Amino acid sequence: DGQVPFHGARQAGITTPAQQRLVFGSFDVKTTDVEKLKVTLALWSAAASLMTQGKPVGPTETAPANPPVDTGEAVGLGPQDLTITVGFGPSLFDDRFGLAGKRPAALAPLPALPGDTLLDPSISGGDLCVQACSQDPQVAFHVVRNFARIGRGAVALRWMQEGFGRASSTSSDQQTPRNLFGFKDGTNNIKADADAERWVWVDDEADQPWMRGGSYLVSRKIRMTIETWDSDNLGDQERVFGRMKESGAPIGAQGEFDALDFGAKGDDGKPLIDLNAHVRLAHPDNNGGVQILRRSYNYTNGIDPRTGQLDAGLFFIAFQRDPHAQFVRLQTQLGHRDNLNEYIKHESSALFACPPGVQKVGDYWGKALF
Ligand code: HEM
Repeated sequence: DGQVPFHGARQAGITTPAQQRLVFGSFDVKTTDVEKLKVTLALWSAAASLMTQGKPVGPTETAPANPPVDTGEAVGLGPQDLTITVGFGPSLFDDRFGLAGKRPAALAPLPALPGDTLLDPSISGGDLCVQACSQDPQVAFHVVRNFARIGRGAVALRWMQEGFGRASSTSSDQQTPRNLFGFKDGTNNIKADADAERWVWVDDEADQPWMRGGSYLVSRKIRMTIETWDSDNLGDQERVFGRMKESGAPIGAQGEFDALDFGAKGDDGKPLIDLNAHVRLAHPDNNGGVQILRRSYNYTNGIDPRTGQLDAGLFFIAFQRDPHAQFVRLQTQLGHRDNLNEYIKHESSALFACPPGVQKVGDYWGKALF
């Protein structure tokens, strides 16, 4: 039953090997008093330090006339590799808290991207986010629930998303997991420290000193039309991604980690990896070298009552040092041409600046911002 250190120069939950479960909460700040916002972030940081050690945030046994301080559902479950990662949305930097001059250029709202007309604003955006990842779903849920309880009066949950299976390996020690289309996901993800330094972490050159050592999180709830996919033939499924289903190998190669050869042609003279295959369009060679760290989860919200079909897909999460130069660049190309677009629909979008880590007891998320 592992424990991931909470205090440190960088937040955990970014390059930490992806855990099995996710609960993601987006909050709106309801108070206009910046002091109340700071107190909430300080209380959250103190609670996170305890929860990541598998401890309750306060007594569950209080005087019978008082509500228990900790809600209790994680008692006895242990830390379960829990990480809690917090971020600030672009909307936090409007006029409410005097932070307008502190918004990094990289936190400008995302532009409209191809296919974005179907986004649902009620499950998009937010002033603050909390990404709780753990091997146990109840341990992760306990975090968002207690953050909402601790912040009552100052913040309110705007939307929440559960993820039941990691759909990206983020470490070469992990076997590559599969997404709900049955394909290995995360084969060519960032795994080496040197690549993370270059593409994930904000460095000392950043325009806003408070973000140095932080990272930017983009989330996209991407609905996958499972029923249509399941009636598609195997050859076409592999053409969509440009990889083989069972082995994960590039079409025309043998092993999962073999290099993608975009010039290779079949006997018919056509490229083995389709010109609009997902991996061709997303690969660094076709995007000026750009990479992102994917840390996505599979989700299902049951059955869509409007259609009777599965409401399921990928809760895509990516970390990067500049979402405009990285995510936006990739998604612009994918949104226009990706074979996968026939089987997916982006339903929500959010962007958050995740500040550097909470260094010690008494420190709190974003202390250098205020
Ligand atoms: C690669 C699935 C959305 C970026 C892959 C792979 C699969 C996959 C199966 C190949 C294995 C791997 O290298 O990880 C999906 C599914 C999606 C989705 C099912 C939506 C439901 C996205 C989005 C982006 C993205 C929105 C970014 C905007 C990438 C990148 C790669 C990749 C950068 C690695 C390409 C390479 O370097 O070879 N994806 N993906 N994907 N995907 Fe996605």
